[in-house]
Amino acid sequence: MKFITVDSYDKMSRQAANIISAQVIIKPDSVLGLATGSTPIGAYKQLIKWYEKGDIDFSRVTSVNLDEYVGLDGHDEQSYRYFMNKNFFEHINIDLDNTYVPNGCAVDLQGEGKAYDEHIRQLGGIDLQLLGIGHDGHIGFNEPDDYFIKSTHVVDLHESTVKANARFFASEDEVPKRAITMGMVSIMQAKKILLIASGKEKREILEKSFYGPITPRIPASILQLHHDITVIYSEN
Ligand code: GLP
Repeated sequence: MKFITVDSYDKMSRQAANIISAQVIIKPDSVLGLATGSTPIGAYKQLIKWYEKGDIDFSRVTSVNLDEYVGLDGHDEQSYRYFMNKNFFEHINIDLDNTYVPNGCAVDLQGEGKAYDEHIRQLGGIDLQLLGIGHDGHIGFNEPDDYFIKSTHVVDLHESTVKANARFFASEDEVPKRAITMGMVSIMQAKKILLIASGKEKREILEKSFYGPITPRIPASILQLHHDITVIYSEN
């Protein structure tokens, strides 16, 4: 594991964007595993800038996102599909047909999960998975539990996660209580993982995740077993 500490959100974002762009330059048809949340926004902005300069070409890239709220369709401004379109996809030359986000409105959510995993398998797996981390150590929406869940599945969000994510909604009541998230197999089988985190309040969970015991009570701790993971942490 490489654990890089930097002193600003901007540096973290630029370093993350550098790693993602190197991946796309080396393998133009990369499968990128992408994340939502406030943390990756700066990296997406930087990648958009480099795309506009002509430095990166996303035309052959495929993306698979980690998760989606159950019950929100892609037109809903709080959905992760909408987030990805607005914060990244609409500003670069990725083919929208090659961008995948789990369908939180699928009638058969279990079937959607199975199909999502099968799709990732058919793509040959994820080349580079970008991750954020929740305050309770969740990655994607893999919440603390008695065991690690392997496949893409529906999850009841913990109260602390609903509270943390309420800042994106008009009120806490509007935050969906369920989500569909990629499970640990697709994440752990990614060839490379890049986890980014920023702010002093994330320090403790990072220490527990990467230097403590591996336990499903801290989902991100499983990443200690990954053979090629880089963590970039900005203290501010
Ligand atoms: C959400 C997402 C996660 C993300 C986490 C942290 O719960 N499902 O993928 O890592 O939020 O968000 P932030 O980056 O805003 O701290």
